[in-house]
Amino acid sequence: MKKFIRCLPKVELHVHIEGTLEPELMFKLAKRNHITLPFNSFAEVREAYNFNNLQSFLDIYYQGANVLIHEQDFFDLTWAYLQRCQADNVLHTELFFDPQTHTQRGIAFATVVNGIDRALKKGVTELGISSKLILCFLRHLDETAAFATLAQAQTEKDKIFAIGLDSSELGHPPEKFTGVFTEAIKQGFLTVAHAGEEGPASNISDALDLLQISRIDHGVRCTDDPALLAKLVTQRIPLTVCPLSNIKLKVFAQMADHNIVVLLRKGLCVTINSDDPAYFGGYMSDNFLAVSEAHPMSKAELTQFTFNAIEASFIADDEKMRLNRLTQQYLEHN
Ligand code: HPA
Ligand code: ZN
Repeated sequence: MKKFIRCLPKVELHVHIEGTLEPELMFKLAKRNHITLPFNSFAEVREAYNFNNLQSFLDIYYQGANVLIHEQDFFDLTWAYLQRCQADNVLHTELFFDPQTHTQRGIAFATVVNGIDRALKKGVTELGISSKLILCFLRHLDETAAFATLAQAQTEKDKIFAIGLDSSELGHPPEKFTGVFTEAIKQGFLTVAHAGEEGPASNISDALDLLQISRIDHGVRCTDDPALLAKLVTQRIPLTVCPLSNIKLKVFAQMADHNIVVLLRKGLCVTINSDDPAYFGGYMSDNFLAVSEAHPMSKAELTQFTFNAIEASFIADDEKMRLNRLTQQYLEHN
């Protein structure tokens, strides 16, 4: 099963590029940019990655991002992630970036986007990996700051496909961003939002109704609301679930308690994703492996996660058909 999982064609829909910053690259960039880190060794970094909840992770994650200064740093970060994609047979990825984490430190918006975009273009030509970039607003900041970020995105619109919402869910519900999401939709962006990770199921319903989102990031708390659950099944509203993240941040005590396979068998459009792989212990294949070890599944069920991700992606229909065919062939021959 391990080999089947490693080679299975995959589509990733929930990864924060800043969350792919491995300690090795963090140290390299700190040295290159003359930044002092609060860690003396990789072992000290990994020791610090013991989280109690989402906030305890976010504090360290924003600190790590301080080493990213120049366009080349954002390029190197993204290129390293794409090489992980290649190793895991990820054919398409839709990745988040948090511009406010960088503009707040005086880094220009264009520096961030151009570095990421240059690596993504190289990913297409040299690795055959397609991608779409999603700009996330930090929900612990106010809506005025989100509007200012949307304004900065205007000159880079050709590089950004959709708008998302991340950071601390508790205390920062979807309704806080209704105005800026309405404006983003008017400008032609698709929308997604983190909801129902630590926050209640009502955040999922509100994100769907108020922010007009095309899919829900995390969303595992949907099981608390049977009417919402039924709606997700009948309307095939996708959830981008991040299993290793959910264990690291104690959304579930252990993988055996995770509801992703129950949701799959209920007919929800659930997908497997890595979220912040450098912090949570693994990339796409590691997430598939961890789920399948705790919840034995058939090869057809494992492959359904890829079919769901293709369906939930923002790729054009003809490309979706090509990926579906390729995935079906893999299942038939392995
Ligand atoms: N939740 C919210 N915000 C985030 C996450 C997450 O899992 N990862 C990076 N930013
Ligand atoms: Zn996330």
